[in-house]
Amino acid sequence: MHLQALRLLNFRNYVRLEGSFEPGITILFGANAQGKTNFLESLYYLSNAAASHARSDRQLIHFDVSEDVIPFARVEATIKRRDGAQQVALTIGLQNGRLQKRIELNGIAKRVHEYVGEINAVLFLPEDIDLIASGPSLRRRYLDTTISQIDQSYYRALAEYEEVLGQRNAQLKALAERGLRNSEELLAFWDEKLVEAGAYIILRRQQVIARLDELAGRIHPELTGYNEFLRLSYLPRLELGYHASHQLSLDVGTDLLREGTLLTLQEVQERFHESLQRRRAEELARAVTVVGPHRDDVRFLVNEVDMTDYGSRGQQRTSALTLKLSEVALITEKRGDPPILLLDDVMSELDEARRRYMTEMLIEYPQVFLTTTDLDVFTEPFLGRARLLHVEQGRHREVDQAQKKRADS
Ligand SMILES: Nc1ncnc2c1ncn2[C@@H]1O[C@H](COP(=O)(O)OP(=O)(O)OP(=O)(O)O)[C@@H](O)[C@H]1O
Ligand SMILES: [Mg+2]
Repeated sequence: MHLQALRLLNFRNYVRLEGSFEPGITILFGANAQGKTNFLESLYYLSNAAASHARSDRQLIHFDVSEDVIPFARVEATIKRRDGAQQVALTIGLQNGRLQKRIELNGIAKRVHEYVGEINAVLFLPEDIDLIASGPSLRRRYLDTTISQIDQSYYRALAEYEEVLGQRNAQLKALAERGLRNSEELLAFWDEKLVEAGAYIILRRQQVIARLDELAGRIHPELTGYNEFLRLSYLPRLELGYHASHQLSLDVGTDLLREGTLLTLQEVQERFHESLQRRRAEELARAVTVVGPHRDDVRFLVNEVDMTDYGSRGQQRTSALTLKLSEVALITEKRGDPPILLLDDVMSELDEARRRYMTEMLIEYPQVFLTTTDLDVFTEPFLGRARLLHVEQGRHREVDQAQKKRADS
């Protein structure tokens, strides 16, 4: 799919922007702090109806309107999908200190869970290195937003699981504090609910990670001149029964895919139940749910070395980039339509060989937006194919290459 037209109102530092866009490569260039990343973020918002990287949606509204009666930001777009042009409008408003979101798809109001997945975009930001380098919660959130793009039931399952988890934890806490006679009965009830809501999440995560692993297995070697081979594996915090070595140290996690087969929903449910049973005493002592998808993790291995603990910065960065490119391939497969690719300052992070490979690959993508402070990171032929937009204080100005050269000399 590709973006045809975009209108921003009070979005970050864009007071008002109206632009039309084409398939192919668009490069947004300009000095620091002019609105390059903000532009990509507006497209990410269009796709996810939530700010990227767990930032608050509130931050998206332009500072200058914060004193208005109802401060709001709006993103409107025409997206050309395989099945036709879609009109989308997202409005974020602040009313009496409360954030309100309004989503319209072709003039019809939609709830978030009905909308997510309609417009697909994949964003790579320099801080995505944290996906590899930091703790598991970022990796879980990454999985959740990615899978929600291709499966609306997943998005609903997540909301349900959150709810059940909160109630089950409250119950465990009450039991720990007061102790109740029928505690086993009560917990059996909550176990059932937790497994019901959580098993689907685990099932989808294992499937998606298995596919991302295959895709990354092809992309990563190319990106690294066949020096590095990336593997992804899922570490569900479940006791799986067949790995004797892990029975005593469950927090190490167990590689669900080691056997090369994926579990069925029923098998996941059984193992989830079993794990809850075995950890009963611990859960009662700690008054918190210790097994379930809220404790999952993903491992990234390059040439068998764990990148989270032992990767160099460059290796972590390249692994994060491979992950995003694999996500593009996954969405293309599942939706039958490639997502819009948004790459923030990606070239400055790569060595020359990796840049060359990237540029060759990007030419194949239907629509890519790249940002840079320095056009020299791109080769002449690549620039020749790209549309150049100069970004300055929240405004865009189209520049042709000849103009650009004259300005340089
Ligand atoms: N809600 C907001 N209202 C107004 N301005 C904002 C808002 N949020 C961010 N900004 C400002 O927008 C400006 C541009 O930010 P952006 O991250 O897009 O810069 P950039 O062009 O990507 O720069 P860099 O090259 O440094 O990455 C910043 O000065 C930032 O403070
Ligand atoms: Mg930026």
